Amino acid sequence: MTAQEQKTATAASRRTVVQGALGTGVLASSSALGSVFTRPAVAAADEAAIGPDTINRQWLLASHAESNLSTENFKYQEVPLGELDLNAGDILVRNIIFAPMPSQRISMHADTGLGDGYMPPMKLGKVVNGVSGIAQVVKSENPKYPVGALLTASGPWEDYTRISGRQLYQPPLPDGIDPVDAISIYGYNAQTAYFGLLRLGEIKAGETVVISGASGSVGSTAVQIAKLKGCRVIGIAGGKVKCDRLINDYGIDAAIDYKNENISERVRALAPKGVDVYYDNVGGPIMQDVVDQMAKFGRVVLCGAISAYDDDNPAPGPRNMLRLVVYSVTMRGFLVSDFNSERDLAFADLRKWKDAGDLVYKIDLRTGFKNLPETFLALFSGEKEGSLLLKNDLA
Ligand SMILES: NC(=O)c1ccc[n+]([C@@H]2O[C@H](COP(=O)([O-])OP(=O)(O)OC[C@H]3O[C@@H](n4cnc5c(N)ncnc54)[C@H](OP(=O)(O)O)[C@@H]3O)[C@@H](O)[C@H]2O)c1
Repeated sequence: MTAQEQKTATAASRRTVVQGALGTGVLASSSALGSVFTRPAVAAADEAAIGPDTINRQWLLASHAESNLSTENFKYQEVPLGELDLNAGDILVRNIIFAPMPSQRISMHADTGLGDGYMPPMKLGKVVNGVSGIAQVVKSENPKYPVGALLTASGPWEDYTRISGRQLYQPPLPDGIDPVDAISIYGYNAQTAYFGLLRLGEIKAGETVVISGASGSVGSTAVQIAKLKGCRVIGIAGGKVKCDRLINDYGIDAAIDYKNENISERVRALAPKGVDVYYDNVGGPIMQDVVDQMAKFGRVVLCGAISAYDDDNPAPGPRNMLRLVVYSVTMRGFLVSDFNSERDLAFADLRKWKDAGDLVYKIDLRTGFKNLPETFLALFSGEKEGSLLLKNDLA
């Protein structure tokens, strides 16, 4: 076995991780999920059986929540699909995998404070909007999306969704791409880590990079990209179990347990010359503690502020702006969509690293449509790790 084959085999075996006491999901590699997500066939009989009387299970937003979102904010219902009347170009899909994302929480506020351009408030009594998922075409008036094709879709919280031809801009998933990979290691979050670190963070070998939310979907990819680029990487996560896993599973240099350790003191001890790049997924006091210790010409990458999503107060900015002035620090926010024109590049690099065995990734898999609200809440309670996915149990 060559050195590269050995590396690939080792990484592949590390990709299957059994979850401990963190929640109800199963942490597993995409390859281990292969049998669960192999393209389900849509037989002609299946297609014919889907009609106006077919039951569509849905989760609706029953009330907005400024803080303490709970399952009470959602309402379950079963309604018939009704007449489909697909126009030329339209398709009907069934949602087979949902990828809950923290940003959905933003639009569950009555007023997001962000205007209508990004995650506007969801309308009450309507199906909860998704951001990412995998869907399968079950009826089609569009030759580019034949029955049976899989596509990445927004994954609204219902079994079946009609998609108009105007909204179809992503081609179906090619045969060689595992659908789980498409929404995890190649998906939005991995690409967010990629562009945030490389374009905004402009990380360089030897630099000290601190990443919060490090055990999550974006964070766990970010820590590995920073290691691949030769940086010294410090991850921040909640609890010793997650911190140990960051070091053991992803090979980062050090981890800070924000729930039990003094972040300021730990950053000072681990980065005595200051932090070159801070990749901020969480905002709030953690952001403040790290920003206070930026090195000269440091870069703060504002990716998200999950610590404030379930709160009626917007995430505050850093207190000590003069620190940024004196240390010539850049602080910049971004959306992954800012880099839409470069996504092929990110995809190619992520695929290359994954195939070489350089990216380990964890899927926290849940099942059962009825568990969607509870699964979504796990994003904010810490009872998940890696990329959270829910497989629909639609027959
Ligand atoms: N800018 C963009 O285009 C873009 C795109 C995608 C995502 N994002 C943002 O990126 C961030 C991460 O998203 P994700 O999908 O990776 O989420 P995720 O998988 O749920 O990971 C987020 C992590 O944040 C930690 N966390 C949750 N609440 C926290 C709190 N109150 N204080 C500190 N840490 C907390 C959790 O870690 P512990 O269990 O360790 O607490 C969790 O692992 C979010 O802010 C999201 O909005 C931005």
